[in-house]
This record gives sequence, structure tokens and C-alpha cells, in this order.
Amino acid sequence: MAVVQKLLRGASGEFALLRSHPDEHLFGVQLADKRPDCLAEGARLAESRGARFVDLNCGCPINLITGRGMGASLLRKPARLGRLVAAMKAAVKVPVTVKLRTGWHEEKVNVMDVARACEDGGADAITIHGRTREQRYSQAADWDLIGRVATERGVPVIGNGDILTPYEARERMARSGVRSVMIARGALIKPWLFREIKTGRPGFPRPRSASRSSGASWSCCASISERTSAAGSDDALPAVAPRLLLPLRPGSRGAVRRGGARAPAPAVALQPPPPSSPLERVLGATRAETHQRLAEELLASLTCEEACERAQRLALSLPAGGGDADLRVAASEVAG
Ligand SMILES: Cc1cc2nc3c(=O)[nH]c(=O)nc-3n(C[C@H](O)[C@H](O)[C@H](O)COP(=O)(O)O)c2cc1C
Repeated sequence: MAVVQKLLRGASGEFALLRSHPDEHLFGVQLADKRPDCLAEGARLAESRGARFVDLNCGCPINLITGRGMGASLLRKPARLGRLVAAMKAAVKVPVTVKLRTGWHEEKVNVMDVARACEDGGADAITIHGRTREQRYSQAADWDLIGRVATERGVPVIGNGDILTPYEARERMARSGVRSVMIARGALIKPWLFREIKTGRPGFPRPRSASRSSGASWSCCASISERTSAAGSDDALPAVAPRLLLPLRPGSRGAVRRGGARAPAPAVALQPPPPSSPLERVLGATRAETHQRLAEELLASLTCEEACERAQRLALSLPAGGGDADLRVAASEVAG
């Protein structure tokens, strides 16, 4: 999500968000603003830097954004939102999409009206996160409501909320009639969840440790690295990287909690294979320092192959052992 006002001020950190990594084959930019002319200009900027689609953020719940009339605040005035979509559509050739919540709060659930306004404004697709702004993550996403909008509207609807397994993706799509689903937290647990959904085979073929470390985590780090270095803040990256690696540990159950802060962790199908190779042992290491070192090796790599070699070398150089405590703490921090 890029804040258009910052783009128009020329903020380098915001422009960094418009950069894509070569591994990102379908790169889109989400924009936050509330003015038609600014959104049109933001959309043009994103398109000129390679965005294959531009999305309007109408879901961000945080006060900093809604207090300035952006994000979920846009849900309150559907007709005005329709005009914003129309302004973006007129400015670019790439598809324009909109990310919605179901409403501002439970007494103001108005996603049916909002979706109609977006369609009238020319949106090419709309994504619905099945919760209101006030609900944040406190309740299960309302897939019945998402389904009602999908049935009623001609514009393709993408459903979003609480999908953590291929079974859920399939079941939600079939039951609600949405064209597609969007996944956020599930991908933080299992970056290969998309492949599981595509193949319909959960965990099979389970990515080998090499592809987990060289593919998923490397491109994740590299992508963030590209952006943070463009923003001139590379220093922050080593602190972030071990967190990115957490979900890749064998047997990781990730850090997502479903349906509210007290709900149990979701049963993600991640049965660890026995740590057979040195690299599996590193990914399954129980010491935070080991993950820090692995993160450093990945960050120092220029290609996926080099990342893999470095990780292998590290694996061979490490003694076995360590306590689980450090990583449990780190995992609960991510969950918080
Ligand atoms: C770390 C994180 C960052 C997010 N950033 C954005 C964002 O920039 N724009 C947006 O529309 N939604 C954002 N979301 C919300 C997700 O897109 C999604 O609507 C929400 O997490 C529900 O989907 P899930 O149950 O699959 O996580 C973010 C969610 C998470 C967990």
C-alpha cells in the first residue's frame, strides 16, 4: 500500500513500494488516498513503473489512515467511492481493482451498496475482506455475505478472510461463488500455500528444504531488500529477516490465530519430515542465533543458487542442538 500524498511529495520510501522484484510476475500496487485527481495521478505513477494492476485501499482500519478519510473510511460514502474508482479507471490502461471490508461497523454493513458503486465506477474486480473495520480480526470472516455480493454483482469478486488451507480455499470458492480468493496471513505461515491450492495437494509435493530456503525465503528477503535499500534503510533488514524465516521451519505451525485473539492456533497441515539433511536441520534449528545467521547468509546472496549454497555451507558448519524457547518467543511476537 502506497500513500499517494507521499508519492506526490516525492518520498523515496514510498516510491520504493512501487518497485518489484523480478520474481514477482504479477505485481500490483495498492493506493491510499481520498481525492480523485490524486488517485488518478498515483495510478499513472504505478502503471508507469510496471504495475500490472492498481488497487484502491478501502480496508485499512488504522486510525492514522481512516482519520484522514482514507482506507476503510471510504466505505462510508459509496457514491463518492464510485467516483474515485472512475477517476482511476480513466487514468490508466491496466485493470483497476478495489479492496473492501464489509462496512465500517456491524450496524453499518453496507458492502452491497459499496460493491455496486465500485462496479458502476468501472472496477475490474473487487476484493472483499469479510469483516467490518471495527471487527479488525476479532471474528470469523463473513463468507455468506461475501457470497451474496458475488451472486448479486457482475464484477468479479475475490473473497478474503481466514483461508489457511487448500481445503478452505476450495470450499469457500464453491460455497460463495467467488471467482478467486485472496490470502494474507496463510501465506506468512506457508509461502507455498498457493501451490498447494493450485495442485489441490496439501503438502505434496512438500517443498524440499533447499527450495524453501532458496526460493521462498530468499525472494521474500530480496524483495524487501530491494525496497528497503531503495528507501535508504537497509539497516532494518537483518532484524526483520529472521521473522520471515520462521514459517519455513519444519513443523512450523506459523503464527496466525483465527477468529480472535483467544482462538487456538489453526491446524495447519505441516507435518515435519525427519530432519534428514543438514539444511533441514538448519531450518529446524531451535536457536534464534542460528536463524539470524541463516538470514544473514540469505541476505548476502545475489541469486537463489548462491543462497542455497550459502545455506548448505552454514548447515554443514553447525553443531546440532539448542533449546526451543527462543523461537517460541519470536513466534508469539509475530502472532501479536
Ligand atoms: C502483515 C499484514 C499486512 C497487511 N497489509 C495490507 C495492505 O497493505 N493492504 C490491504 O488491503 N490489506 C492488508 N492486510 C490485510 C489482508 O490483505 C487481509 O485482508 C486480511 O489479513 C484478512 O485475510 P487473511 O485472513 O488471509 O489474513 C494486511 C494483513 C497483514 C497480516
